[in-house]
Amino acid sequence: MAQKTLLKGRVLSFNGSPFEGDPTDAVTVSEALLIEGGRISAVADADSLRAAHPDADVVDHGQRVIMAGFVDAHVHYPQTAMIASWGKRLIDWLNTYTFPEEMKFGDSTYASEIANRYLDLTAAHGTTTMCSFCTIHPESVDAFFTAAQQRNQRVVAGKTCMDRNAPEGLRDTAQTAYDQSAALLNKWHGVGRLSYAITPRFSPTSTPDQLEAMGALWAENPHCLMQTHLSEQTDEIAWVRELFPEARDYLDTYEKFGLLGSHGVYGHVIHLESRERDRLREVDAALIHCPTSNTFIGSGLFDMSGLMHEGHRVGLATDTGGGSSFSMLRTMAAAYEIGQLRGAPLHAAQLLWLGTVGSARSLRLDDCIGNVATGMEADLIVLDLASTPAIAQREACAEDLWEAIFPTIMMGDDRAISEVWIAGQRVSN
Ligand code: GUN
Ligand code: ZN
Repeated sequence: MAQKTLLKGRVLSFNGSPFEGDPTDAVTVSEALLIEGGRISAVADADSLRAAHPDADVVDHGQRVIMAGFVDAHVHYPQTAMIASWGKRLIDWLNTYTFPEEMKFGDSTYASEIANRYLDLTAAHGTTTMCSFCTIHPESVDAFFTAAQQRNQRVVAGKTCMDRNAPEGLRDTAQTAYDQSAALLNKWHGVGRLSYAITPRFSPTSTPDQLEAMGALWAENPHCLMQTHLSEQTDEIAWVRELFPEARDYLDTYEKFGLLGSHGVYGHVIHLESRERDRLREVDAALIHCPTSNTFIGSGLFDMSGLMHEGHRVGLATDTGGGSSFSMLRTMAAAYEIGQLRGAPLHAAQLLWLGTVGSARSLRLDDCIGNVATGMEADLIVLDLASTPAIAQREACAEDLWEAIFPTIMMGDDRAISEVWIAGQRVSN
């Protein structure tokens, strides 16, 4: 008989969107959940679950919060070793720090070392799924999927395609980008918990021919995600305008080549024009907010409240290593701070939703991950709301659950993650 585990604690699940009505109404708190065969098989009160499943192992987490593992909707795992590199804005930062590091990923041994290091670090921070850019090297994709497969982890990734404005050794062509992406997609997409994302880096590093080839591959595989960057910095937008003088705007450089669609996942999207906002909404594409990156690289302030109000599909991400942290808690704190600067602070329930359900919806994976509900895959974390003396003394005088959780969002790190479960198995932290 399959092993059963009953987790007791404050089990937090979303029954709707905390961006509609009172944010706290979107959250249900239960006493326990049952894990069976890698999935959540029940969420209920502890006594009745125990009575119904006397054979289950019981782990009692007391006042700790049990919730879905974090979903990081936009990362570059190859940038793990150069995170927190000083003093540059986007284009300079790419040329100075990013491209030299990404050059190393033609070496499978190095790629595998960083993929495993990245997955160790993120698991310790409570992230159970991410959508990652790799490098132009197929080896970098194989290394990442192999490492995730060994951990039975649900991840999305793709070969980053670039055929111009990148150094020698870090460029493919329209044809090799198509051929290698197609081969990797056929090799990995839908294997176990792995999904392939077609990944043109951004318009400045792809010729129109390459964008067209990526659009053709997506049209042949419309069930796959397509991830890229859009409107991150004003200098970048001016550069796109020079490179694509006929384009109506930045989004048009994708749209024209079939790279706008419902399964499109667009990182940053800070300086959008109204036509771009309208089109992204019309096709129901995903917009990914990367707050620590946006302040670290000096990009600007994402318009969360405006975009949510317009009904956009929004996810949250670290953007490792443009982002300055592997932690989705730290990322939620930065999203809160950006909300404050825009005069629209986010509620703790909204922050937690963005880092779980919101990101899972953005990756079109919300039918299997990102929430605690019967039938969902058992990717879970246990949050200690008193993980450091500074947080504990604030939590001690909280008057409700939300006041108890917020200090962990603002001040917590990997010490707040007391357990991680991936596909129903506990990961040693
Ligand atoms: N735009 C194109 N490539 C990148 C990248 O690697 N990081 C960030 N933050 N923006 C990008
Ligand atoms: Zn990025």
